[in-house]
Amino acid sequence: MTGISIIATGSQPAAQVVTNDHLAKLVDTSDQWIATRTGIRQRRFAGPEEDTTSLAIGAARAAVEQLEKAGRGREEIGAVLVATFSPGSLVPSTACLVQRELGLPEDLFALDINAACTGFLSGLRLCQGLLAQQPERLALLVGAEAISRLVDFGDRGTCILFGDGAGAAVVAAGPDRPFFCAFGTRGDGEVLRCPGVRPGGGPGPVTMEGREVFRFAVDAIPKGIAAVLAQSGSSLWDIDWFVCHQANARILAHAAKAMGVPEERFFMDLDRYGNTSAASIPIALDEMAKKGLLKKGQRLMLAGFGGGLTWGAAELIW
Ligand code: COA
Repeated sequence: MTGISIIATGSQPAAQVVTNDHLAKLVDTSDQWIATRTGIRQRRFAGPEEDTTSLAIGAARAAVEQLEKAGRGREEIGAVLVATFSPGSLVPSTACLVQRELGLPEDLFALDINAACTGFLSGLRLCQGLLAQQPERLALLVGAEAISRLVDFGDRGTCILFGDGAGAAVVAAGPDRPFFCAFGTRGDGEVLRCPGVRPGGGPGPVTMEGREVFRFAVDAIPKGIAAVLAQSGSSLWDIDWFVCHQANARILAHAAKAMGVPEERFFMDLDRYGNTSAASIPIALDEMAKKGLLKKGQRLMLAGFGGGLTWGAAELIW
């Protein structure tokens, strides 16, 4: 199967910084409870002028600007995929609006995808398939969410976890950049749920059985990673960075311990963003790239898990 590589990244944090103390004015909670249970210190919420579409466009624009700085052109883009479970509209899809706002070619494949927090990884797998057929083109993959619009601020066990934002990556076919991935689904409508548009009403709130989700996640991360390593032949020690869905620092610490990997090799920025679902991995990659943490040739393991229930992992070379 064709290899792929990420050749540019971008992100668009939502405008409003909401600290735990700020949230504690709206919800019966405290900075101490949230920080010790989750590692989250603050998150960002979309401002009145923002929604998933505007965040997706902002992140996509930043990634395309970086692409152009590297001497490539937006006319090379042949696919736009937006992973989200909180789209601003069902039709047109967010991907179509990104195409229009960025002035991308019309002869491209545009689609929103929903695999909740695993969505960015599912998107990478689709990019691999699309680029296998058109290796001369590029794919623009965005993860974007405005989850603050979908939470019930009366449900303190759930609303404190999430944040809004978007991250984007430009993906190219790369014969010398092997890509391995594995995915899974356990259909479940109870443990983590967002009912979507209901007759006579807007989207229902996200609801969750927190402890069940925790148990699921600490199992899903090592399982997904083991399935990928079985394909690639790499060992855990070959991996320079583990970039996982940013849901909860304790979940990532559990996974690191279960695999015997030092926690320092797990990148974490959830203290500042909370859980941004499909946006969390591309935001993390963009932040790591900007901080100079990612060096060409490094081996990355990405892992996602969430609603569906879904999970996935992917190994790629930076
Ligand atoms: N502030 C203060 N107290 C809170 C609270 C909050 N925000 N949310 C819940 N509590 C209380 C509960 O009411 C409960 O009180 P009680 O013992 O008097 O009944 C107590 O804290 C323990 O609640 P519980 O839900 O058992 O806490 P927990 O230790 O399981 O932590 C989560 C809750 C949500 C932080 C944790 O289960 C978790 O992180 N799960 C994974 C969620 C996740 O990552 N989802 C997205 C995956 S993509």
